[in-house]
Order: sequence, then C-alpha cells, then structure tokens
Amino acid sequence: MGAADDLRLHLNAPRNRGLTYGPAQSRVISRETREQARAVISRWPGYAPTPLVDLPRLARRLGVAGLRIKHERHRFDLGSFKALGGAYGVLRVLARETGRSMEDIIAGRSADAVRDVTVCCATDGNHGRAVAWGATLAGARSVIYLHEHVSPGREEAIAARGARIVRVPGTYDDSVRMVAEDARRRGWIVVSDTSWPGYEEIPAWVMQGYSVMTDEMMEQMGDRHPTHLFVQAGVGGLAAAAIGPFWEDLGSRRPFGVVVEPHAADCVYQSAVHGALTDGTGSLETVMACLAAGRTSPLAWEILREGADAFITIADRFAPAAMTMLARDASMPLVAGESGAAGLAGVLATLADASACDRIGLDAGSDLLLIASEGATDPAIYIRIVGARPEDIGEAAAGR
Ligand SMILES: Cc1ncc(COP(=O)(O)O)c(C=O)c1O
Repeated sequence: MGAADDLRLHLNAPRNRGLTYGPAQSRVISRETREQARAVISRWPGYAPTPLVDLPRLARRLGVAGLRIKHERHRFDLGSFKALGGAYGVLRVLARETGRSMEDIIAGRSADAVRDVTVCCATDGNHGRAVAWGATLAGARSVIYLHEHVSPGREEAIAARGARIVRVPGTYDDSVRMVAEDARRRGWIVVSDTSWPGYEEIPAWVMQGYSVMTDEMMEQMGDRHPTHLFVQAGVGGLAAAAIGPFWEDLGSRRPFGVVVEPHAADCVYQSAVHGALTDGTGSLETVMACLAAGRTSPLAWEILREGADAFITIADRFAPAAMTMLARDASMPLVAGESGAAGLAGVLATLADASACDRIGLDAGSDLLLIASEGATDPAIYIRIVGARPEDIGEAAAGR
C-alpha cells in the first residue's frame, strides 16, 4: 500500500490561529460551563482525575521529543471518557424535567420525580454505556439503540449498566434517526452526543461534560506545553471539547490541533475540505468502531472549523499497530482500545509520510499530547488484535 492510501491531510488556514475564541464557540463550551461541569462531576461517587501518562521511551522510539497520553481507561470504571458526557447530559436533563437540583438527584432525594423519566440514545457503545450508567445512578430509566455493527461484547456492557437494548438494522446514523422517532412517539428524552438543527442543548451538555477531561489535562501538563494535540473524531464532540478549552485559555499559544479519523468515516475531514458541514464519503466500516460516524455534529464543527489546525484520515492498519505499541511499551504498558489508540495511530500515519510531517511541523523537537479515549471496551476484540488479555498487559499503577 502506498503512502497516498495511508494518509490524507487537509490544513486549515494558518491565520485561524490568530482568531479569538468568540461567542459562536462559547455557546457550546465556555469557561463558565467548564467550571460548572467540573463542580458537578467532581462530586460524583468514584470521581478521580484520570492520569496523564508520560511515555519518554515511546517518544524516543518515534523520534519526537516527548509524548504524553491522557488515559481514560479507568474513568468511573466505565472504560472511556464518554462517562463524563453521557451521564452529565442525563443529569442535566433530569434536573430540567423535574425542577430538582442535580445534587438532590444524585443523592437519591428526588427518586419519586425521576423514576418515571426515560432517557434514550443511539450509540456505537461507549455513549450508551454512559447514558445507561447516568440513568441508573440517578434512578431513571434508559433505552439504548444499537445498530447492527455494534459487537455483542459492547451490547452486554451496556445492558450491564441497567439499560433496555433495542437493536436496529443499518448504520449508526440510521439508529440516530430511529431513536429520535421512537422518543417522539413515547415521550422519552433523547440524550445524544451529536447535535442537529433544533437539537443543541443536550449535546452541548454532553460536550461540556467531556471538557472536564481537558481541564484536568491542562492542569496536569503544568508548564510543559505540548506542541501538537492529536485527537480522534467520530462526530467531533471529543475533538471540540479537547481543542476548545486550549483555544479559549491559550489562544494562539495552543498546541497545533490535529483531528484524526479513519478513511472510512471522514465526515469532519470532508467538512474541513469543503469549508462547511459535509457528510462523510466512506463506508463507515472501520476497526475504529467508535469513530464510525457519517455526519459531523454542528456544535462540534462550530469549534473545530477554526480551532483545529489540521484534519487527517488514516488507513485502518495504523490502529492495531498503535494498540500493540502501547501494550508493549517497555516502560509503561497501557491498554487502549481500537478507537482509544486512534490518536497515536494518526501520529504513526503522519510519521510515515515525510511531506505530511513537514506540513504540520512534526519533527524531532515535537512534544505530543494524545488521548487514549477508551480502554479495552470490547475485550474479545482487544485479544484478537493485541494477542493478550487486557489484564495481562501489566499496566502499572500510574496507568490507573
Ligand atoms: C472511545 C472513543 N473515542 C473517541 C470517540 C469520538 O468521539 P466523538 O464522536 O465525540 O467525535 C468516541 C465516540 O463514541 C469513543 O467512544
């Protein structure tokens, strides 16, 4: 396979770096919403910041100056950063619907009011798990819609959090449409991680929940500012929640933001190429299953269209390579799933292409920041790819 099949790269206009974080972006995520989300989420049972893991040995192997990974595997014991967004979205919805405070709801003092509320969503796995967990935590009901390509392992993990599962034919986007129709008929409330015209309040809450991770990361990195942030995208919510706070706080001193997608699910890349929201052109069949979205979230796009510096799509083969590299890193082995390792996969694909490195300024002096957005959320798939069970990888305490 030639280099052209491995990587596509689109650069945003460099002058964007001089733009200030304005009202269009603040209505999605702002310092105020970030503080509010952190105040609420940090009081949930089991909250602890996830580690920012320094991997100097891996950095040397890749030929860069530094590499740190925000490791989301143990986020609320749910396996991914999505725990922050889905559950925060559910809680905000329940507070809005019942008129009770989020604190009262979490403390179980509003059980009578929330018990009859049903929240629902479509998911590739991790978002559904977070919504189900949030609903169970608060004492509400949840119904989660899964498209036909979601693995049985992921279905079991969601059902284990107390949700009723509905399987639907087609792709992720079909399941999004279907859950919206059923919710309208039955009076359920859709807690989606993607927005559409006329439906923005809840997905904004979900992204504000994610931003807690970015705030932790900015504190943990201290004075050592990264040169590049590689962040994987499905609908773009994570990438926007990662890039937005850096942009808001650091302006033009923020790291060079690279949005990474699989070739087969390239909706954010296509939007960047066309300068406006554009559907993806791929088949949506990718090993990076949680990134398999065909349509960018307009709310996420509001931040990414000017806040991101580059958009890449990569061949699937880089994801297993990145997972294996993290699992076998001699100094600090880490367990990251197919979508979790996608940021590193983006780095590998870029490093294999000298002209791409040139264009984004990736060189021996670069200090990279990545997000391992999930652990082995489907252990069977993990074992098939890495050749070892997640519990046998020997992740050290610093990886917890
Ligand atoms: C593990 C993981 N990483 C990354 C993403 C991408 O997030 P987004 O769809 O907000 O772009 C997802 C989405 O579900 C995910 O589950």
